[in-house]
Amino acid sequence: SAAEKGGYDYFMLKEIAEQPKAVADTLLGRIDAAGSLCLDELRISAAELREVDKVVIVACGTAFHAGLIAKYAIEHWTRIPCEVELASEFRYRDPILDPRTLVVAISQSGETMDTLMALRHAREQGSKVLAICNTNGSTIPRESDAVLYTHAGPEVAVASTKAFLTQLVACYLVALYLGQVRGTKWGDEVGAVIRDLSKISHEVERVLRTMEPVRELARTLAGKNTVLFLGRHVGYPVALEGALKLKELAYMHAEGFAAGELKHGPIALIEEDLPVVVVVPSPRGRSVLHDKIVSNIQEIRARGARTIVIAEEGDEAVVPYADHLIRIPVTPTLLQPLVATVPLQVFACELATARGNEVDQPRNLAKSVTVE
Ligand code: G6P
Repeated sequence: SAAEKGGYDYFMLKEIAEQPKAVADTLLGRIDAAGSLCLDELRISAAELREVDKVVIVACGTAFHAGLIAKYAIEHWTRIPCEVELASEFRYRDPILDPRTLVVAISQSGETMDTLMALRHAREQGSKVLAICNTNGSTIPRESDAVLYTHAGPEVAVASTKAFLTQLVACYLVALYLGQVRGTKWGDEVGAVIRDLSKISHEVERVLRTMEPVRELARTLAGKNTVLFLGRHVGYPVALEGALKLKELAYMHAEGFAAGELKHGPIALIEEDLPVVVVVPSPRGRSVLHDKIVSNIQEIRARGARTIVIAEEGDEAVVPYADHLIRIPVTPTLLQPLVATVPLQVFACELATARGNEVDQPRNLAKSVTVE
């Protein structure tokens, strides 16, 4: 009913709008006054976490993209090797696991069969499993050694939005907590990240207030067949997620690529007026990464692409090459997915509407896939 949708036309619109609160709620009570993390709720002790020598993340769909982003954070902040794998692949390839492997299973519903089978397999090998889940008491957290709940609230739309943002927050918390208990790389940077994380829901709110041009742009692209997405570093999984949203909702051919792979194939797809969304990393700090993507934008534009550039406020270097410029707030590199994903959700939702598709219940898809 309209009341359930809080006055929005679709649950998805409501859930997109709820993201600042979902993010804030997922942080609530998990950072103390001194700026340290308190995750006593994890049933894995600090001593056990100090023994971990490898992290393996398993998930499906959008949750898998959260896992891909988590890898960058975990390896950077903790120096523990981290692998990320689709649950459906992991289970059937005889993965190497032992009691020092921490397996992280990410699932909004807590009922995805492939993820459940993967975690059962991991526990049989003696690994500890930590679930990141949005649904209290669901099967995946019940069968795990520990759980960190995301507090997104119920997500009804089939395409995941607010659950994804809170999965990212939970992944950052796990990464930072591993750093905290192990004392590795635990310095100014991590303390500063926790402070930035506590402010990030306001940044998500700011992004939401500037989405009208994104909706207008989406409507003009309703007749297109293909949209490509490019990113580097954590912008690469964001590109994959942007493409997934477009497939799910707009039924368009959408592909995400690592911008560095352009020359190895994707550039052959570029033709006149092909929309290409590019997620640009911050020009501060890792400027090499930024310079590289600016040249990628130049390369595709020279071949006719219509460039839709998502870039930080104040990033002037991209301006000459952006046919459409979508501004996002300044954030630390690793946290950028929390703000960069939002315009892509809005973009896909508006395109679906413009194409006359059912936003909350896309054809052929289910909210939770409980069969293999
Ligand atoms: C389905 C949903 C996706 C979701 C995926 C994993 O495909 O349509 O939105 O990302 O399952 O679901 P989970 O509940 O495990 O996060």
